[in-house]
Amino acid sequence: MSYFPRIAGQLHAEAVPLTELASQFGTPTYVYSRAAITDAYRAYADALGSHPGMVCFAVKANSNLGVLGLLADLGAGFDIVSEGELERVLLAGGKPERIVFSGVGKTASALRKALEVGVHCFNVESEAELELLNDVAVHSGLRANVSLRVNPDVDAQTHPYISTGLKENKFGIAIERAPAVYARAAALPGLNVVGVDCHIGSQLTQLPPFLDALDRLLVLIDQLSVKGIVLQHLDIGGGLGVTYKDETPPPVADLVHAVKARLAERQLALVLEPGRSICANAGALLSEVLFLKPTEHKNFAIIDAAMNDNIRPALYQAWQDVQPVLTSASPSQRWDLVGPVCETGDFLAKDRDLALAAGDLIAVMSTGAYGFTMSSNYNSRPRAAEVIVDGDRAHLVRARESLADLTRGESLLPT
Ligand code: LLP
Repeated sequence: MSYFPRIAGQLHAEAVPLTELASQFGTPTYVYSRAAITDAYRAYADALGSHPGMVCFAVKANSNLGVLGLLADLGAGFDIVSEGELERVLLAGGKPERIVFSGVGKTASALRKALEVGVHCFNVESEAELELLNDVAVHSGLRANVSLRVNPDVDAQTHPYISTGLKENKFGIAIERAPAVYARAAALPGLNVVGVDCHIGSQLTQLPPFLDALDRLLVLIDQLSVKGIVLQHLDIGGGLGVTYKDETPPPVADLVHAVKARLAERQLALVLEPGRSICANAGALLSEVLFLKPTEHKNFAIIDAAMNDNIRPALYQAWQDVQPVLTSASPSQRWDLVGPVCETGDFLAKDRDLALAAGDLIAVMSTGAYGFTMSSNYNSRPRAAEVIVDGDRAHLVRARESLADLTRGESLLPT
């Protein structure tokens, strides 16, 4: 089933024509399909089945309150990396006891807040963080549940910027160091050792890197249990990659079933932190063609969405499909779709064969993850609106920023 079907020549989000969304909410606008998010979440939850554990949506992929609220209603847990993400999850109705707190640079204030609300566990990424968390817990008269994020030194075979499980990456605690750090954690009065986690990278389209990392963690778990440190859960980090163009990731159920099979008789709950695979293909960025600028060397279509709205093409050379909202009978030409920002790297797509005219609407597909959340106000561009479509209804879940929003909190120097 397509969540963005073409009906009578017009691209829709579920049952809503995108032309309608553009006239109601303007452009650029992120449009998400409620059914797509729901189905993607359920693929994980159903595969986990009755095995103890949680599917904790990685909030960094899409932190809109409407999206988080929808996932909270479905029973999701959340993987957060900042006080801001904690605040969002709580506002959206997420349960603290279903939150795991990841990230290499947690502040004392974020740790305190998370402890006070009672998050499920802290995924600790360094020895210094472990000591800080213990201090914060002791001062607050509380005990923090701890999992160590272990760096298993596995090549995730993904883009170098989103590969995180190699020795040279800043993330986690080297697996060889882990037993000593666990022993330290077990001895600290403010900590309660509950689990282990890893996250080797994002946009993984094959199972072997996940399973290699898992095998290394299982060896560690056995070493620890010999020393009397018995873990209750294993967290394998982010989820599978998605199809942007011709990638062929295995079904989510294959990943989850393979992991469960490896856990076999062990009494270990399983935590997963998928982000991209829950919402990337649930979103499209709706934009209008401002001008056509054919040149001797290249044809540029200047659109009203830019790198500040979706930085993935500029940052990772990401390829995302571009669909015209209305099918055109005119012949196609090859276009670079570029934004109004003053940077050569400001492109959303290159060398696409499309029939375009000024005023046309286009949709940049597969932009529901790491799209809006990575957007900025560069060039003083207000950030886009966000809309969730549910069947034939559309809900504005984030108003487009206004010019006043752009200068909020700023002031002139006193005279
Ligand atoms: N857990 C941790 C600790 C993570 O660092 C991440 C992603 C996830 C879970 C979610 O991984 P996923 O299921 O989405 O693969 N901005 C980049 C992606 C950065 C991913 C960072 N960490 C992009 O647009 O491709």
